[in-house]
Amino acid sequence: MNNPDPLADTEPAFTVNGTVRPFGQVSAHTTALDWLRDNGLTGAKEGCAEGECGACAILVAQGDGNGGTSWTAVNSCLVPMASLDGQELVSAEGLGTPEHMHPVQAAMAAAGGSQCGYCTPGFVCSMASEYYRRDRTPAPQGPDGGGGETGPNGFELESLSGNLCRCTGYRPIRDAAYALGPPGNDAMAGRAESPAPAPRNTLLERTDGVFVRATTLPQALALLSGNPEAVLVAGSTDWGVEVNIRARRAPLVIAIDRIPELDAIMATDTEIEIGAAVPLSEIERALGGRVPMLAQLIPQFASRLIRNRASLGGNLGTASPIGDSPPALLALDAQIILASADRERAMPLSEYFTGYRTTVRRADELIKSVRIPLPLDNVNAFHKIAKRRFDDISSVAVAFSLHIEDGVVATARIGLGGVAATPLRARASEDALTGRPWTLETVQRAAAVLGAEGTPLDDHRASARYRSRMLSNALLKLHALNSPSQEAPQ
Ligand SMILES: Cc1cc2nc3c(=O)[nH]c(=O)nc-3n(C[C@H](O)[C@H](O)[C@H](O)COP(=O)(O)OP(=O)(O)OC[C@H]3O[C@@H](n4cnc5c(N)ncnc54)[C@H](O)[C@@H]3O)c2cc1C
Ligand code: FES
Ligand code: FES
Repeated sequence: MNNPDPLADTEPAFTVNGTVRPFGQVSAHTTALDWLRDNGLTGAKEGCAEGECGACAILVAQGDGNGGTSWTAVNSCLVPMASLDGQELVSAEGLGTPEHMHPVQAAMAAAGGSQCGYCTPGFVCSMASEYYRRDRTPAPQGPDGGGGETGPNGFELESLSGNLCRCTGYRPIRDAAYALGPPGNDAMAGRAESPAPAPRNTLLERTDGVFVRATTLPQALALLSGNPEAVLVAGSTDWGVEVNIRARRAPLVIAIDRIPELDAIMATDTEIEIGAAVPLSEIERALGGRVPMLAQLIPQFASRLIRNRASLGGNLGTASPIGDSPPALLALDAQIILASADRERAMPLSEYFTGYRTTVRRADELIKSVRIPLPLDNVNAFHKIAKRRFDDISSVAVAFSLHIEDGVVATARIGLGGVAATPLRARASEDALTGRPWTLETVQRAAAVLGAEGTPLDDHRASARYRSRMLSNALLKLHALNSPSQEAPQ
């Protein structure tokens, strides 16, 4: 590789359960899970090695967006060890011991939330992350004593969506979660007040490849321009699967997730710009519902464990035709910003995809950000049709952004995923709606057009006919939920 210097500044090391540990002779592709287990910390388990089961969950100290630290649960099977240089992590062993259990471990034991125990270290890490969440406050419960999926203690059950258990049937685990009190005054709670560790320039040169963390955009772009074979890595929720399951290795991996320009969200009166590497959980927190389309999309994307690292740049970087963000971003008329050492260019996302997993992005370019123009339309919806509610891949996804004024569709943009080799705009359906009254008649006609958009395939997830039918139904549902007849009687 060309010119990695002057990126390295100190011997790679991280803090594990309160003790600074040098990396030692790890390879450039070693995962955090493998390092932990090779070093005697065998609490975290390998169930699937592809982010599906959560048996490997650990806690990483990450910035909370307000100058403090949040203990963020991540899938250690997907995180490259090298990306944790200078960082702090806690595994189940660091939470407590059999003699001095952590409150989440004690609650799990008391509720019978552990049987064979294989999933338990991962569950307690996800649970501890939610236990320490600073804005977790007691939640009002419904008349039947139930609070939906939030416990009386404000515990959001969805924080466990990436953890699977084969034994308990989940109810005892929920009981344990809902029995937790407010965080005590332990060291992990105290850590919340001080900033998370800064990123470090990292250089790991090994026989299986080189891992570099660039901490500035010019560094990353210079490296990329001299090394077109390099793989960029942000959250590693896709790349980690490639490494583990398909045994992919790259001569050079460039970590870009802590570059300030890629790790920021900026809003003006005319647009919201989201850095390509901002984790989806952080986008959800920072936007706080300001972009309803993303507020609908993000909870349906994978699991909390995955969303704590997965980014929009990674989702667009894979150019998968079944990625969930492209339909939503297409409907929002988003622009994608591509940066290289010599220039930056912005283009509509609709011009980005060129074929199955191919795009206009050159090898020396990275995705810097996406820009969502404001104001937003007044009808927005994201429909993900999948077999399971959480942690599943779309059979088909549809996003609608319509501006309806005085009962007429002034503008319509519809983004589709899972019905062609690329995500696409449903232009014929948009034409069938635009300028027409927002009535059932218009919608039924446009739904028939929508059902014929794209070239859906039969595969193990769904038949082509089902996919087409779901497109039509999504528009009918949108109308049913957003038509004057749905207004509450006065
Ligand atoms: C269990 C599981 C569930 C999942 N569920 C979903 C789901 O519901 N919906 C969905 O859409 N996806 C899902 N995914 C896929 C994955 O989580 C997403 O694609 C995610 O957005 C990838 O982001 P990342 O930051 O982790 O990407 P990475 O793994 O870091 O990178 C992915 C690819 O994009 C490239 N890349 C990353 N950042 C950039 C950039 N800034 N510029 C250019 N290229 C870049 C990398 O080189 C790599 O090729 C799932 C994955 C797993 C493991
Ligand atoms: S081992 Fe299954 S999610 Fe990591
Ligand atoms: S206790 Fe056995 S898998 Fe959860």
